[in-house]
Amino acid sequence: MTSPLQILTLSLTVALSAYFGPIILSLLAPHIQSLLPSSGDGYQCPPHSYTTTIISLDPLLIYIHNFVSSIESSSLVTLGTPLLEPSPVTGYGSDAKGSQARTSWSAPLPSDNEFVSCILARAESFMGNLLLAGRDEIGQAQLVRYTEGQKFDLHHDWFSRPRLLDDDAETGRRRLYNRVATIFLTLEAKNVTEGTGETWFPFAKRVWADGTKKGAGGEEADEKEKYWREHEDGGLAFKAIPGNALFWVNLFPGNGSGDGRTLHAGLPVKGNGVKTAMNIWPRVFFGPDA
Ligand SMILES: *[C@@H]1O[C@H](CO)[C@@H](O)[C@H](O)[C@H]1NC(C)=O
Ligand SMILES: *[C@@H]1O[C@H](CO)[C@@H](O)[C@H](O)[C@H]1NC(C)=O
Repeated sequence: MTSPLQILTLSLTVALSAYFGPIILSLLAPHIQSLLPSSGDGYQCPPHSYTTTIISLDPLLIYIHNFVSSIESSSLVTLGTPLLEPSPVTGYGSDAKGSQARTSWSAPLPSDNEFVSCILARAESFMGNLLLAGRDEIGQAQLVRYTEGQKFDLHHDWFSRPRLLDDDAETGRRRLYNRVATIFLTLEAKNVTEGTGETWFPFAKRVWADGTKKGAGGEEADEKEKYWREHEDGGLAFKAIPGNALFWVNLFPGNGSGDGRTLHAGLPVKGNGVKTAMNIWPRVFFGPDA
């Protein structure tokens, strides 16, 4: 038999949950939201499908085809575009914004975004033994955009003196870092015409720099020249092709000092061209607390 007390309790429970249900739901909503993919279309970081070509052995320079998919490219561009600001230049005489040497726009990309963390994980796996687990870090990704006339004059990505992270400066942890390598990934190239907006390495040479324009490959060599060309002032110039990336090693393996042959420039984008790319600068740490 159901007692009147039980009926009262039951109806109170029903009434209370009808009343409080929406409130509890609304309290939980932000947490439920954070459990769902923020892109709304259920992006899951896929296994990589890139292929690679070694351009130069010393210094090591590798061309990576299809490092990211078009969905990943456009998502990174959409994420970073509202964050863009005039690029700071680091590692030079002054860190002032608006330097003549670099006229592009840039933005640090939030590492907790699913696309950013996926690409950083892919980059970290590509680095393999270059980074020591527990000591080194993949670093923060940076979005960079060049529009008409914008360029980045010849520079290298390594610091002439290893640096202290702001966080370490605060806690007193004694370790220094430098950018051991670079992955420069083109995400978007709109109206970028032939011979503009390339990334130029004046000291880069093909693996076998024997003075002949083409290697033994013949037609295969022609195929490769879709992606880069020999620059009239020496070295190689790489075209801005969305999804493709360049990887190079900045520091000498033996002593950790910067390799001057990694000098490069982002050549000007002309007309109404827009080039958007992403930098990844993995950090190796030195010092007693590294
Ligand atoms: C590319 O050029 C076309 C034609 O001039 C123009 O309509 C379009 O807006 C340009 N795209 C960008 C991204 O500037
Ligand atoms: C580091 O090693 C490279 C390659 O052996 C050498 O060319 C360079 O001079 C060295 N740098 C220093 C500071 O010892």
